[in-house]
Amino acid sequence: MFLQIHRGFTTSVWFVKGLREYTRSGFESAASQFNPGDLDVDVTGQSFLITGSNSGIGKRTALEIAKRGGTVHMVCRNLERAEAARAQIIEESKNENVFAHILDLSKPQDIWDFCADFAKRNDHLDVLVNNAGCMVNQREVTDDGLEKNFATNTLGTYILTCALLPLLKKANKPRVVTVSSGGMLVQQLDVKDLQHEHGTFDGTMVYAQNKRQQVVLTEHWSRLHPGVHFSVLHPGWVDTPAVRVSMPDFHRRMGQRLRTEAQGADTVVWLALSPVMENQPSGKFFQDRKVVSTHLPMAWTQSSLEDENKLMEALEAMAAMFKPETT
Ligand SMILES: NC(=O)c1ccc[n+]([C@@H]2O[C@H](COP(=O)([O-])OP(=O)(O)OC[C@H]3O[C@@H](n4cnc5c(N)ncnc54)[C@H](OP(=O)(O)O)[C@@H]3O)[C@@H](O)[C@H]2O)c1
Repeated sequence: MFLQIHRGFTTSVWFVKGLREYTRSGFESAASQFNPGDLDVDVTGQSFLITGSNSGIGKRTALEIAKRGGTVHMVCRNLERAEAARAQIIEESKNENVFAHILDLSKPQDIWDFCADFAKRNDHLDVLVNNAGCMVNQREVTDDGLEKNFATNTLGTYILTCALLPLLKKANKPRVVTVSSGGMLVQQLDVKDLQHEHGTFDGTMVYAQNKRQQVVLTEHWSRLHPGVHFSVLHPGWVDTPAVRVSMPDFHRRMGQRLRTEAQGADTVVWLALSPVMENQPSGKFFQDRKVVSTHLPMAWTQSSLEDENKLMEALEAMAAMFKPETT
């Protein structure tokens, strides 16, 4: 009972914070402190792999990077949507170096295969942007027997990053940027039921748990791979297809208060491109170009190192299970 009241209190505190900071006006207020020169960069010759870049935040990120000369590898699950977005990005950026790759990130073996093939065709990768994400509200299990949100948001991000690390390490100053969510602030890392097989299934909370896991992953990777710069972020509340489809009530209630896709992509682009980032410590959680706390005050969401290690070990074991012998 007390726990339920505390959870309700934490969620209310978080929502009030969101109304102030995660909205369009929150972005505008934060942006008044941005250094406009931070994104005056030319990244011609550098390569960027962006997942879920056929729509929303990922597509806008791909466009901003293409405009600055980067070679963009779009990783999307649907050929038609990917090609349509690619054509638009090329037209708007006048950059022909935009390539579409088809991969469903909820399919672990396909991720390993994709990365092995990508490594054969590319000698390095400068920046990986883990942007693709989903909030599936009814418990859905993939053909591999994995809960769909976990498979996409956590295991997919884990395998793609691990499999691309050797290629990233061949770049001059490699970066990995992961688009998490402020929703993770209401969740404590929970490693007891990664597939959400027990209890009532709440898609919003499962998604928030996956996003907490992405933060923990980023912190661990930053310690394990000091030569690669890792960051993770909250893009704010953004008007995108994901919000329209998965959270229709929230979308309707927030209306014009939701951020534009360009506003949502701003910190992703900044983390991927800005030279300022080179002086920032690795493994941090960002919001509007600033490092912010990964916990709300008095939310009791801190996790033990033991639980964090359990997550890493479970993901390593699952990733190995799906790794084809040939890769
Ligand atoms: N919008 C917000 O308010 C908000 C807030 C916090 C965090 N985020 C995060 O921001 C990221 C981008 O989301 P968005 O809001 O820009 O939504 P979006 O426009 O719907 O973009 C999500 C992208 O992920 C792709 N995707 C989903 N499942 C996939 C899978 N299994 N394999 C490959 N690609 C997959 C989608 O592909 P399809 O087009 O084929 O579905 C789409 O390209 C997500 O990680 C989301 O959690 C968003």
